[in-house]
Amino acid sequence: MAGRIPKSFIDDLIARTDIVEVIDSRVRLKKAGKNYSACCPFHNEKTPSFSVAPDKQFYYCFGCGAKGNVISFLMEYDNLEFVDAIEELAGQHGLAVPREGGQDNQFHNVHAKQDYELMAQAIEFYQYKLNNDANSPAVLDYINQRGLNQQTIEHFQIGYSPDEWDGLLKAVGKSRQAAEQLRDIGMLIEKEENKRLYDRFRGRLMFPILDRRGKCIGFGGRVLGDAKPKYLNSPETRIFHKGRELYGLYQARNANRSIDRLIVVEGYMDVVALFQAGITYAVASLGTSTTEDQIKLMLRTTSEIVCCYDGDNAGRAAAWRTLENALPSLVDGIRIKFMFLPDGEDPDSYVKAHGKAAFEQQVDQAQDLVAFFYQQLYEKIGETEGDFARSKLSQLAQPLIDSMPESEYKHSINSTLAVKLKRELPTQKVDRVGQAKAKLAQQNAASSKKITPVRMAVALLLSCPHLLDHLAHLQDGQLELLAAMDEPGVEFLVLLIRYYRQHPNASAASMLEDWRGTKQEKILSQLLAWEHHVDEANTEVVFLDAIEKILAMFVNRRKAELQTKAKMNLITPAEKQEYLQLLKAK
Ligand code: UTP
Ligand code: MN
Repeated sequence: MAGRIPKSFIDDLIARTDIVEVIDSRVRLKKAGKNYSACCPFHNEKTPSFSVAPDKQFYYCFGCGAKGNVISFLMEYDNLEFVDAIEELAGQHGLAVPREGGQDNQFHNVHAKQDYELMAQAIEFYQYKLNNDANSPAVLDYINQRGLNQQTIEHFQIGYSPDEWDGLLKAVGKSRQAAEQLRDIGMLIEKEENKRLYDRFRGRLMFPILDRRGKCIGFGGRVLGDAKPKYLNSPETRIFHKGRELYGLYQARNANRSIDRLIVVEGYMDVVALFQAGITYAVASLGTSTTEDQIKLMLRTTSEIVCCYDGDNAGRAAAWRTLENALPSLVDGIRIKFMFLPDGEDPDSYVKAHGKAAFEQQVDQAQDLVAFFYQQLYEKIGETEGDFARSKLSQLAQPLIDSMPESEYKHSINSTLAVKLKRELPTQKVDRVGQAKAKLAQQNAASSKKITPVRMAVALLLSCPHLLDHLAHLQDGQLELLAAMDEPGVEFLVLLIRYYRQHPNASAASMLEDWRGTKQEKILSQLLAWEHHVDEANTEVVFLDAIEKILAMFVNRRKAELQTKAKMNLITPAEKQEYLQLLKAK
């Protein structure tokens, strides 16, 4: 097994990296004051609410709340696992990622990089075999029959896996290590009895599945005839997580400057055929229904998703599951629709028979989510009138509605429910303008929360850690007493001071990394998102003023506390000493 990546390496990596550079190479950033801004890459928007703070090495979106350090960004934006994000960042600096515990480290470093390299070689091998195999005439015949042209074949890097047990093994898995890696990434299978390795994909038309960086992470392979299974897919591996990828998304993003609408279809062939017909914004979900992760992934690229399914029962069931998965992501400004092709047709056959315009017309007529929601519920209930239908409707609809975030969508579904249940929901008569105003007021209240000295001190310390020099006189014991003071935020301030003392060159970003997954991470990222708006020239004065206020508050409270104790004769000699000192300290 791979050892852990040493924390010191991660700290060092974050210290070497400029988050602005990393984000700017993926999302064009514009300077805005001391920060940088852009349209948020994590939700679709027209005016920028995404901001990157170089001093804190932190990004934050006021629209959708996405936030974090450079590693979080790579995980979210490139859709990477934690370790892969570290590898990616290390790679940019030309560094190998060390592992704790021994020699097999070296092996594991090579590993991640080689997984993708081996996949690239597999693509090449299958592409070569398309035209250079004993079966090539039959393969090309099949491609012809399916109407795919040369350009499409090349664009999707479609290939052919020869009908042999060791085609890929011999061509790409030459060394023992390469062969074992090919096994680990799902391309070879190991026989249980004798541990011999053989090709997983044999005699199939091969569709490479690319991640959002264009790296191959898996394949789908179709038989040329009627054998079963019709499609064979890569299993889940360390580089392939089926529910989090979409076939064709990389190609769609490459073909379009911006994407107003994505169509989700069921099959590889559907994506490819639609693309060839000029509909370059279709993706396939690699399974029958679309997962919540896949919906989130699409919503980073587009604000409208049209889910396209076969008109049969299986298609409707898949659409319903997709709807359930979509509800938690249904915020204002996005649109999710459902379309069903005539029975017996799929997007591939439909676009071939009727052409691009007819297919797009079908897309335009897709059913709105709210309509589909109730239509399907009534179908499940079996009747639309009477007490039974009403109680059943309420019972089925409510948990689904509860899974939705607050939005106009939720209102719409809720008010429709009220009408159908023939009851007035108290909040239903909405004054939308009033509501928007209330929401804005609430947001403002939240963001311009009272600026207390503690809040100010924390915010300043986060953007200028060197301010800590002014606190050198505070001793550990004093910090402990301070932390125990019952005043919101003081405990966190002390935590911060201690952290910086232990890690003199740390940035807010590395602190965030240390606390990944903890309660402190949440608090910290909220604080990082708050702007103190203090000019650089004034930071010191404002900081010292805040600290003075905090200390004064502390001294006053402590004096009162000790005084009370003294009155009740509960004061210890040490405390008495402290009290006298506090009196003098004034
Ligand atoms: P379909 O059976 O609808 O096939 O499966 P299709 O896409 O129309 O294929 P063609 O046109 O006959 O070539 C839809 C999707 O379901 C998955 C695949 O992702 C396929 O594209 N599937 C289907 C499998 O994974 N395995 C199977 O055996 C069948
Ligand atoms: Mn088909």
